Amino acid sequence: MYSRRNFLKTAAITTAGLFLQGGLYTTSAQAAQAGPEWWRNAVIYQIYPRSFADANGDGTGDLAGIIGKLDYLQTLGINVIWLSPVFRSPMDDNGYDISDYCDIAPEFGTLAEMEMLIAEAARRDIRILMDLVVNHTSDEHPWFIEARKSRDNPYRDYYIWRAPRTDGSAPDEQRSNFGGSAWEFDATTGEYYFHLFSKRQPDLNWANPQVQQEVHRMMNWWLDKGIGGFRMDVIDLIGKDVDRGITSNGPRLHPLLQEMNAATFGARDVLTVGETWSATPEIAKLYSEPARRELSMVFQFEHITLTWDPQDGKWTPRAFDLREFKGVIGKWQKVLADIGWNSLFWNNHDLPRAVSKYGDPGRYRIESAKMLATALHFLKGTPYIYQGEEIGMTNVRFESVEDYQDAESLGLYRERIAAGVSHEAMMEGIYANSRGNARTPMHWDASEHAGFSHGKPWMKINPNYREINVAAALDDPGSIFHHYRTLIRLRKEYPVIVYGDYRPLLDAHPQVFAYERQLGDQRIVVINNFSGQLVELELPADLRDLAGESLVSNYGPRNVLGRHLTLQPYESFAIALGTPAA
Ligand code: GLC
Ligand code: CA
Repeated sequence: MYSRRNFLKTAAITTAGLFLQGGLYTTSAQAAQAGPEWWRNAVIYQIYPRSFADANGDGTGDLAGIIGKLDYLQTLGINVIWLSPVFRSPMDDNGYDISDYCDIAPEFGTLAEMEMLIAEAARRDIRILMDLVVNHTSDEHPWFIEARKSRDNPYRDYYIWRAPRTDGSAPDEQRSNFGGSAWEFDATTGEYYFHLFSKRQPDLNWANPQVQQEVHRMMNWWLDKGIGGFRMDVIDLIGKDVDRGITSNGPRLHPLLQEMNAATFGARDVLTVGETWSATPEIAKLYSEPARRELSMVFQFEHITLTWDPQDGKWTPRAFDLREFKGVIGKWQKVLADIGWNSLFWNNHDLPRAVSKYGDPGRYRIESAKMLATALHFLKGTPYIYQGEEIGMTNVRFESVEDYQDAESLGLYRERIAAGVSHEAMMEGIYANSRGNARTPMHWDASEHAGFSHGKPWMKINPNYREINVAAALDDPGSIFHHYRTLIRLRKEYPVIVYGDYRPLLDAHPQVFAYERQLGDQRIVVINNFSGQLVELELPADLRDLAGESLVSNYGPRNVLGRHLTLQPYESFAIALGTPAA
């Protein structure tokens, strides 16, 4: 999403901090290696509640709708649901603008229903991750309502205020990720407040210990309800130093997370995953090395931004280049091989649909969606599935930007059109990368409104729901859904998928992503054709003439690796290697 500027702005990371934690830090390789925590072999399913399932027919998805679909998720086999925000919110950014962290938005349901969701999920061995959005609040949060009343209000310091320049203009040139200045003038008190997202999402001042304590208290309140952990929204921004123009990876970031860990989830058996657009593999290690006591893992976006223009960002898409992609994934697999942990994903509520971006949403939709799933689920790390991905949902082409119902797309559309970009060019960017692509309502069946709602959905539905929907997928043993089911099951059965070493194969090949995983004498080879063409392969010497067990495939079982392989369009398979072929 975010402007290049923010990615690049990284403060110096010192390793000195590592040694300052008394007995906690150990250099023993043993202790640094992946432990047996439950989340290492978990598969996580992300729900965007507005668009998942609407139980009461008002057009907006809700908690009761989610409860009604838990059996479906159990059938899929996932262990964790990451719930995008369901807290009370004016919905300026669809819930990523929270006005009460300890209550549920009425359109989603009640706290009692949330407790029921946690309990009903637990009965099916599914845990719930809450979305922790604490870089900012809503402007309707009582803290902000107080803060803007006067300069000496006790809550003033919960946010970031600066005086105007002498000519009355904003304190500096920093930009919001949703377009425009990051500073908004507040007439009552004559100062500007800082917001990295919409002006209705004022940034919290994490330098204020009271803010930290309030957030810790709130987190413990949720943990006491038995949740499975947190997904932490833009968490790499909380250590910011606005006066030095540093937003991501600020100097206070890692100490803040260590304090949060100690005060809240550290002693509990939960999963934490940070959203960190600015993470490099080395930075991800700082977050996820167990001895540092920060987070379980982070989401990195280096593979995602490869299809964005380096200067212009997501609105000027760039073609996918498999060799670049393999370089990035290989690097992350390698750097986090023994210390730290990867999260694995193709898409989420902020990104386009995987099959549209990396596969072929037309002729080879089914083959390519399965291929993408296989390519990702055999990597080392914890896989995330975004709602609808498991049935191969695709991007949409709406005529008007308004139909995308997204603060970011709208904000940037206005800003860029004003700067002279043509409507057509901007719409192409939106078709490729708007967050709205992922947010159209879930397709449950071929009935009106895709079985999502009895009423008029809050957002237009993708017209292809009659063909692409859950009911059809459940009925068809060859569906993408059943392919995901197999992948999830395999991860539980084969420790090599969770813990094995990663070795890239055919590294220079422009169309094939292949790799091997190995743990003791368990060895799995995974081969994926990322193109719609036939590919002739010559296998390297150590892979020739081996037979094994076909674990998963999209064109029928493959049990043997010969010397030469012909791959069908988007063909993909994994073989557990055994003995040399007779
Ligand atoms: C994260 C969320 C995104 C939201 C933003 C501001 O990037 O994933 O949806 O708009 O943070 O909270
Ligand atoms: Ca509803």
